[in-house]
Amino acid sequence: MPKRLLLAALLTLAGAAQAQQRTAFAPGQPWPDNKDTHLNAHGAGVLYDKGRYYLFGEHKVAGPKGNSAQVGVHCYSSKDLYNWQDEGIAFAVAPEGSGSEVEKGCVLERPKVVFNKQTGQYVMWFHLELKGKGYAAARTAVAVASKPTGPYRYVRSYRPGAGQWPLGFKDEWKQPAPGEKDLKWWTPEWRAAVAQGSFIRRDFVPGQMARDMTIFVDDDGKAYNIHSSEENLTLHVAELTADYQGFTGRWNTIAPAGHNEAPAICKRGGKYYLITSGCTGWAPNAARSFVASSIWGPWQQLDNPATGPDADSTYHSQSTYLLPVAGKKDAFIFMADRWTPKNPIEGGYIWLPLTFEGDQPRLRWADRWTLSAFDQPRSKVVATP
Ligand code: GAL
Repeated sequence: MPKRLLLAALLTLAGAAQAQQRTAFAPGQPWPDNKDTHLNAHGAGVLYDKGRYYLFGEHKVAGPKGNSAQVGVHCYSSKDLYNWQDEGIAFAVAPEGSGSEVEKGCVLERPKVVFNKQTGQYVMWFHLELKGKGYAAARTAVAVASKPTGPYRYVRSYRPGAGQWPLGFKDEWKQPAPGEKDLKWWTPEWRAAVAQGSFIRRDFVPGQMARDMTIFVDDDGKAYNIHSSEENLTLHVAELTADYQGFTGRWNTIAPAGHNEAPAICKRGGKYYLITSGCTGWAPNAARSFVASSIWGPWQQLDNPATGPDADSTYHSQSTYLLPVAGKKDAFIFMADRWTPKNPIEGGYIWLPLTFEGDQPRLRWADRWTLSAFDQPRSKVVATP
């Protein structure tokens, strides 16, 4: 080939490769990976490890079976958060009929991975429902690996807090109050009964329910599993053991009877911020936000963090993770899912910059934005053209 043609061909190839490079976030749009396939990582979380981000999420399949785990947890990696390389299935479900808790057809949701410095292991937690049992099991499960991309080995599942009262639980609450079973739901008396442990007592022996969840590692290395408990009425925060594979027995409630799901947490200026959703299944609803000076509370409820059009449905999405951007102080990306339960594989991703007005976390819609949004004065973070 003449040199001139070779050069032209090389330039075309380089151009094509460059065209595939993404340079911005486009919330709600299809998000192709390096193989040009829409990311398949729903209810996701992100691990930052040795200069690379690792995205872990539910691998969904097409059609009605797609909301149960047919494959496992999918992993992608990225240097810049815009372009994701397919790293394959990090945690695979066990074969059908194996009788394993995590066999194909179970429900495996909201996987989150953290690194444990003491053991050198990567620890994955997820919400587990046993095959054929709907959402009754309400368990939280753990798997470990020696590499971020896996393969993760299943360890076990838990009902947290078995035989342990939450912090500050009064002695007089350890016995049922007369007539509490007959209280009408959502009345002030019923809410007070929930706050004084009506569901906690019910589940004291088997352990507390654990559905939608996230994991948070604090600056001191202590990790916490935050999950929707008590029939999704109350969030629980439970301290993990030093190896992050079990529970210490120290736990507390957040917003009793507040009906919160989809917890996502970050820490900024020594304070903890929590974003949650209400409980309407796959249908979106208005997000909520909370702030606390200690992970154990008290948690103060703030406003819906979303602003502008579609704020009442969190832009048709539900929170899953608050992602700290490496190298940028107090820069967090709000990650959420736009569920498509009839064909789950199509589910979309809403990533938006999280800003703060005082203590109030704020979200504003942007069709397209880049990480440079975090370099502007924070009150002025807006969409890039
Ligand atoms: C949502 C929850 C999802 C999934 C779904 C099932 O509220 O956040 O993770 O459990 O309900 O209906």
